[in-house]
Amino acid sequence: MVERSDIEAVFSKELQWIKDDFLKNKVVDVWKEAAYRGCWKSLDDAPFTLLIKDSGKLTDHTKRITNLAKVIYDQRQENINLDFLIAGALLHDVGKLLEYEYKDGEFVKCDYGKKFRHPVSGALLAKELGLPDEVVLIIYAHSHEGDNLKRSPEAVIVNHSDFIDFEIKKALV
Ligand SMILES: [Fe+2]
Repeated sequence: MVERSDIEAVFSKELQWIKDDFLKNKVVDVWKEAAYRGCWKSLDDAPFTLLIKDSGKLTDHTKRITNLAKVIYDQRQENINLDFLIAGALLHDVGKLLEYEYKDGEFVKCDYGKKFRHPVSGALLAKELGLPDEVVLIIYAHSHEGDNLKRSPEAVIVNHSDFIDFEIKKALV
């Protein structure tokens, strides 16, 4: 069972960038509930992606994206909401805990994941647990699901940070 302390330990540096304690706790709530519903024993077990062989851990990808997002934020002078940006970056792929399962020796899409890709399942769970719409939108729009929407500046940063990491991994296969 994944405990709050496990999540707080994995994302200890990144969670500190969220100033609003309510939001910070909500981010941990969503990871915990997704791990529970997806029956994950450890966060370390979840893979980054099924689209690339040996893609590494989802938690490591999440940290890379959140740190990339912070670097971009630090270079901008516009009024970008850091709390929403970091919460969205930390949660953008949490839906993969509901999309993937380990079956017969390999990671595959589970039945729920075949119906709802992780941007949708992650956004639905975040909404259910009371995250603000600004964060729900970042999760929903971080991949192609958001291509026909008007992304917020925070959603643009997470969308591009995510694809930088994905495309680099893919280029190295
Ligand atoms: Fe991602």
